[in-house]
Amino acid sequence: MQSITVKAPGRINLIGEHTDYNNGFVLPAAIQKAATVTIEKRVDRLVLMNAVDLNDSISILLEEIKPSEIHWANYIIGVIVQFQKNHNFPTGFSITLKSDIPMGAGLSSSAAIECAVAYALNELFAFGIDKMELALMAQKAEQEYAGVQCGIMDQFASLFGKKDQVVLLDCKTMEYQYFPLLLEDYTIVLFDTQIKHALASSEYNTRRLECEVGVSMIQTKFAQVNCLREANLDMLNECVNASLHPIVYNRCKYVIEEMERTLAATENLVANDLAAFGEKMFATHEGLTKLYEVSCVELDALVAMVKNKKEVIGARMMGGGFGGCTINIVKKTELNKVIVNTSDAYKQKTGKDLVHYIVNIEDGAHITN
Ligand code: GLA
Repeated sequence: MQSITVKAPGRINLIGEHTDYNNGFVLPAAIQKAATVTIEKRVDRLVLMNAVDLNDSISILLEEIKPSEIHWANYIIGVIVQFQKNHNFPTGFSITLKSDIPMGAGLSSSAAIECAVAYALNELFAFGIDKMELALMAQKAEQEYAGVQCGIMDQFASLFGKKDQVVLLDCKTMEYQYFPLLLEDYTIVLFDTQIKHALASSEYNTRRLECEVGVSMIQTKFAQVNCLREANLDMLNECVNASLHPIVYNRCKYVIEEMERTLAATENLVANDLAAFGEKMFATHEGLTKLYEVSCVELDALVAMVKNKKEVIGARMMGGGFGGCTINIVKKTELNKVIVNTSDAYKQKTGKDLVHYIVNIEDGAHITN
């Protein structure tokens, strides 16, 4: 095999936000929007990277791989470096990249690129690395080359997604379970704020640190607790004084509650109780806004606009926050009306045209040639 084409999707997350790096639960799914890479072996030692959508390309020798000034190339370089830690590339290769995942919309466009490249290189050079390890390598690429201390959710979803299924991942044990997403009269629509506030990645890293501070405060009395997953609200109340350390307290409270909520919501889904599931989505949004403080006025406005509509069963901001999309579960027969009304209201409030995506749940990364 001299050439391979791999498609790796973006993701949604139904519930379980900012829980992955606290070893909690997430409930993502892969979607129809995807990054596609074609990788072809070369006879020399060059790595040629071509981003078709950006009409940009760079090349670098395998032996001289290092961080690039070209932003998009770092997602690829970051992955190549992970392979080079334990494997040798016998030849160079040319990578052609395309993607229809909107960037900065919180749909994990970067994870999709990383996963597509990781999956394709592993197949093309027959390294025999398993999919979970590939997900971890892609995550490392994001952490080391994009500077975001992300959890594992996005890369996991892009590689492990399954058509018409959501997947509950336990980020502590990395065990996972698929559930069919039976929405019947309902469908999922994303509303894209088209905003990505500059502080998104620095605040993300700060949230991680604040959670770690919380864990170390809990450890003063409960030495066995190594992550927020292993803590509960009683421990938090005993160890972190909410008036002395309101930020740490609120961050931990949100995460502990969100972990419980995610498990309970998954039960609602299995029991086909969409109304209860939707209420939990609204509760998650509330927590992300008030306690975790990763929302923004545009996301809050979008959720407020649909909150009292009986045809919208649940809505919340999705992903890291500070922009990107809201995820909404909407009655199919009323979908057009909800889109039109929300678009009008959003235009009035922000002057921006609201972009929406109706979600199909698809398979994770796979070879297409
Ligand atoms: C980003 C990160 C994920 C996860 C979410 C928040 O998408 O990449 O690991 O932490 O934010 O749930």
